[in-house]
Amino acid sequence: MPMTYEHDVLIIGGGAAGLGLALRIADQYSVAIITKSSSKDGSTHYAQGGISAVLSEHDSFQSHIEDTLSVGGSLSKKETIQFVVEHGPENIRWLQELGVPFSSDIFKSGKRKLHLTREGGHSHRRVVHASDATGKALSDTLENHARHHDNITFYEHHIAVDLITTDKQGITDAENRCIGAYIFNKKNNHVETFQARFVILATGGASKVYLYTSNPDGSTGDGIAMAWRAGCSVGNMEFNQFHPTCLYHPEAKSFLISEAVRGEGGKLLLPNGKRFMHKFDERGELAPRDIVARAIDHEMKRLGAACVYLDISHRSPAFIASHFPTIHERCLQYGIDITREAIPVVPAAHYTCGGVVTDLKGRTDISNLYAIGETSHTGLHGSNRMASNSLLECLVFAQSAAKDISTLFEKPYKQHKISNWDESRVTDSDEDVVISHNWDELRRFMWDYVGIVRTNKRLERAMHRASLLQQEIDEYYSNFRISNDLIELRNLTLVAELIIRSAMLRKESRGLHFSLDYPVADESAPAKDTILRPQQKSTTEKIKIIK
Ligand code: FAD
Ligand code: SIN
Repeated sequence: MPMTYEHDVLIIGGGAAGLGLALRIADQYSVAIITKSSSKDGSTHYAQGGISAVLSEHDSFQSHIEDTLSVGGSLSKKETIQFVVEHGPENIRWLQELGVPFSSDIFKSGKRKLHLTREGGHSHRRVVHASDATGKALSDTLENHARHHDNITFYEHHIAVDLITTDKQGITDAENRCIGAYIFNKKNNHVETFQARFVILATGGASKVYLYTSNPDGSTGDGIAMAWRAGCSVGNMEFNQFHPTCLYHPEAKSFLISEAVRGEGGKLLLPNGKRFMHKFDERGELAPRDIVARAIDHEMKRLGAACVYLDISHRSPAFIASHFPTIHERCLQYGIDITREAIPVVPAAHYTCGGVVTDLKGRTDISNLYAIGETSHTGLHGSNRMASNSLLECLVFAQSAAKDISTLFEKPYKQHKISNWDESRVTDSDEDVVISHNWDELRRFMWDYVGIVRTNKRLERAMHRASLLQQEIDEYYSNFRISNDLIELRNLTLVAELIIRSAMLRKESRGLHFSLDYPVADESAPAKDTILRPQQKSTTEKIKIIK
């Protein structure tokens, strides 16, 4: 008999957003944290560069706001930026109180001051970091506090399948609201029912939809797909950020070379050793990511080169070892000594700027359902995210969602009985090759047709393939018992369709969306978000519950 669990708050995701919210709310309420594998499986753990916040007396909120607006290509919402930027310093102080070991300078007087690094688009040094392993320092600290909290229960090796709403359960006493989720327990292969008063999607991004990515395996857009199927709007899915510099080496799966390397003077070089970024932007290597990634893509295609190079070897070995110990060590494992030679690099999918539409409290279109962190679309990033603004967004929205949930808990609430997941009409799959083949096909055509440079024709081709895949996966999903890979593939295919549809709707180039058919931004009218609403969806949805 499948298990049923009850908690006040169900958080799907154990990255900066999920853990941040859990710690802000657990003193009052019982919290479940669901993660696909361990709590170190999200992008948070791999973050390198740092967290942006106004912490220097030479910097100002106004400057951080203007930089974010400018990088976001007229699509970022000023209200959201201001909200996030102004809550930055208090969130960094909170992390310091929790014990995150940020790098600092020690002065002769013995006084310590946070070391601030620079990254693309920032006009000031404002990125607080723990050398080049900020994400590990952050997630280890947050997790350690969460593990020792009596009110927080971790459910690892569990993957959420779908959200449970009153509408889907046929409960019509009030407006539609989220009351839990069906979760596949990977340890016993059963779908279990998690009931909760509030449900939070903190499931990270969807960059795994592309063949080459800096992201860990679990970045399959599950939160976006679940929210869409439940009836939430999604926004700006065409803006997929490609990080300009991932290590190019046959054995180095998804290893990032932080933008902070360029922030501390790293130069981008062609295979002949010549710099090239000044031809594309006067800010050179510190231009925003969309520009740098496109420039590298252009030069690689022009020269037929497999990669370009990033050189920091003019800085002293001591400086490199203290600022970039992780990158230094990892490159050495592949025979590259970055204190003496340039690093071969290529762009790779890195960040999903769009996501589930929310307000400043993290609320979605469905009552009691929140989306925070990379899975959300808050309006902060516009058409291009500025470096190190993501972790900041995770923390600020974790804080504001927690505050909102605490307020709403005061209201009267009626608990409903939820139907269990039904597996009586499915059998074990006889052909798992269908799943692995489709995974590969999807990620390859997304890379080839919906990548850094797009055209109408490529998008049409991609849409055709995505629709075929979706039909096949829907059929497979209805007939066979689910597995981790099937759940992820189903979500990835849906997210691919949302990305392609959004890209087709944008008849201009802006930020991370670049089309050869519309190579410039349309300035004839104010820039608009691409908001998709579920009633427009083209695919059929199958939900395996019995009423
Ligand atoms: P994540 O940290 O990705 O966590 C997602 C969680 O959701 C995971 O625990 C996962 O198991 C869980 N999950 C997902 N789907 C399901 C499901 N169906 N069921 C159950 N659980 C699920 N940003 C910065 O601001 N500064 C940086 O320096 C920086 N460096 C980066 C370096 C790398 C290599 C990468 C990949 C990203 C970097 N980013 C950086 C981006 C930033 O790290 C992410 O945007 C951010 O960490 C996302 O946090 P999150 O909490 O939203 O999701
Ligand atoms: C990096 O260190 O380059 C990643 C920073 C980010 O994605 O914000």
